[in-house]
Amino acid sequence: MSEPTFRKRHAELCRVLEEHNYRYYVQDAPSVSDAEYDRLFRELVALETEQPELRTQDSPSQRVGVTPREGFVKVRRAVRMYSLDNAFSEDELRDFDRRVREGLGRDHLPDYVAEPKLDGASIEVTYEHGALTLASTRGDGETGEDVTANIRTIRSTPLRIAHAGKLTLRGEVVIHREDLATINEARVARGEEPFANPRNAASGSLRLLDARLTAERPLRVLFYDCVERLAKSHHGTLVKLAELGLPTHRKERVCHGFDEALHYIHAFERTRHALPYETDGVVLKLDSLEERTHLGQTSRFPRWAIAYKFAAERKETKVRAIVADVGRTGALTPVAELDPIALSGTVVSRATLHNLDNVRSKDVRVGDSVLVEKAGEIIPQVIEVNLDKRPDGAVPWLSPTHCPACASPVKRIDGEAALRCPNPSCPGRLKAAIFYFTRRTAMDVDGLGRVLIDQLVESGLVRDLADVFTLANKRAALLDLDRMAAKSVDGLLNAIELARIGRSFDRLLTGLGLPHVGSVVARLIAEKIPDLASLLAMDREALSAQLAALDRIGPKIAESILSAVEDPPQRAMLEKLLKVGVQTESQHKQQVVGPLTGSSFCITGTLKKPREEVAADIQTRGGEIHSSVKKGTTYLVTGDKVGRTKIEAAEKKGAKIIDEGALERLLTQEA
Ligand code: IVH
Repeated sequence: MSEPTFRKRHAELCRVLEEHNYRYYVQDAPSVSDAEYDRLFRELVALETEQPELRTQDSPSQRVGVTPREGFVKVRRAVRMYSLDNAFSEDELRDFDRRVREGLGRDHLPDYVAEPKLDGASIEVTYEHGALTLASTRGDGETGEDVTANIRTIRSTPLRIAHAGKLTLRGEVVIHREDLATINEARVARGEEPFANPRNAASGSLRLLDARLTAERPLRVLFYDCVERLAKSHHGTLVKLAELGLPTHRKERVCHGFDEALHYIHAFERTRHALPYETDGVVLKLDSLEERTHLGQTSRFPRWAIAYKFAAERKETKVRAIVADVGRTGALTPVAELDPIALSGTVVSRATLHNLDNVRSKDVRVGDSVLVEKAGEIIPQVIEVNLDKRPDGAVPWLSPTHCPACASPVKRIDGEAALRCPNPSCPGRLKAAIFYFTRRTAMDVDGLGRVLIDQLVESGLVRDLADVFTLANKRAALLDLDRMAAKSVDGLLNAIELARIGRSFDRLLTGLGLPHVGSVVARLIAEKIPDLASLLAMDREALSAQLAALDRIGPKIAESILSAVEDPPQRAMLEKLLKVGVQTESQHKQQVVGPLTGSSFCITGTLKKPREEVAADIQTRGGEIHSSVKKGTTYLVTGDKVGRTKIEAAEKKGAKIIDEGALERLLTQEA
């Protein structure tokens, strides 16, 4: 084939494959067989192998994901992603309608759009000149994580759209119930913890550093909004998005006034389980964008929208056994093991009974039929016993006298409902401590579930929290564990590596699970004490003084921290965390090694991208930021409207003057 013919065929294949993706993933109406799709895809890959310059980012071949990155770059967005106020009852929903009508100060009924509240992971996706340029997670609303490479692998997201200007879309990454079941079966077969719900599955899959792994997860995107104004109404916006070939949920309904909206909500609640994806409510939004502007927002929520959350589903099932789980503090929690039932989208086979008093007051017995619901749609709990169905001979539960994990005699702490295992080296306590340490709110090690933690502790591979970070040296032993294939081991080690250098000090503190030190207190402490090394370097006096200087830290909290750093075994573990290379984020930032290590940058003038974003791009590649041009500054990056003094300083101090385009090239060059 001649070069122009190559090019033409390549463009044709890209177009046809994307058209098929659209039909399959957005319209749910496949137009070719899988075999035909595969044939076209292979032809595309073969063409690109011969002519590598054809392999651009928006080629469908790139949906298989690119090679892993070392960490996620933070994205600061220009327009914040707000969250939604919730209503849990019809009365609360009516209050919302009343506030809206009062705010608009008119007699007429407002038009609302009612639409499903999708239960997945929020996402923002930007298209510029028709090309997908950036995708980020919600994060805290203002700053998210750059997951562009992961989003590109989702076949329902077009890589190009027919829109010349900039388009900043908001939506949800979801996973179909059926697909989640398939993934979970595979995870359980590999000895991994199944995802508790589609939301966890979606956000976990999005935040994989290796986008090739994301490509294997059956994710879908559904957009529900756009920052730029495309129409006068929300409904108009949704129509426009669909016209552009963007996937939307298409379940919205314009409702004239509150009563119509309520009608939709009730109808939707009855039929929502027929949708292929999980929803946890209905979002009611004012349709007119002008009226929205008029109402504005509070510091957290827009005043023009509300999420009506459905009540948790309840079901009856049988108690097979009552066991005690050992927590990280040694507290024993009674748990009912149940005949499995499907509840709010997952299969439930265990439910918490909270504490001994609760088992006694509800008088739950083995063999009983009990009503179960998910608290916050996540943790299953036993609500009540159906006494009519109690089998003859069912006996009250006897609380344990010995720890089920280490057989130490249990103690009842005065004034507490809980029994405790007093053994500090109880394997049950260690398992729970590792679980807590590695959760999302703390060190966030993806893929380290209960089943795996059990194996790590029982095989002796992990004897304390710090040992989690020594697993990279124990690859062979990990491969020997039950159902751990090379791929799952690599995934786990990748996640551990990320946690080792990428978490902030307050998350580390939270993860230690010290008494009275939750995430809020940990954040306060981390404002004063920058990292673990500084904490350990302080003597009692200095540390007490630092903590006393903090407003909301009382003596109980201070004592908890002091005893952790003074108690020899705990101190040894904390020192070990440093030895195994745990670096919290602030330390890590100063030590990033990358293609720009050794170069320093001063930024001046107005840039196209937000300045924080540019600075973060530089820093994550090892470059340093100078606030002014000084001796040793390598580059002065100039945007629009640059003052003469900066330029003169650069010329005098020998800094190279470059524009944003040149910087972009430096940033994208490989190490
Ligand atoms: S509108 C300011 N619409 O719910 C408007 N959000 O608590 C904010 N969500 O993280 C969003 N389905 O990702 C909107 N149809 C829908 C939604 C939806 C799910 C999520 C959203 C956000 C959370 C807000």
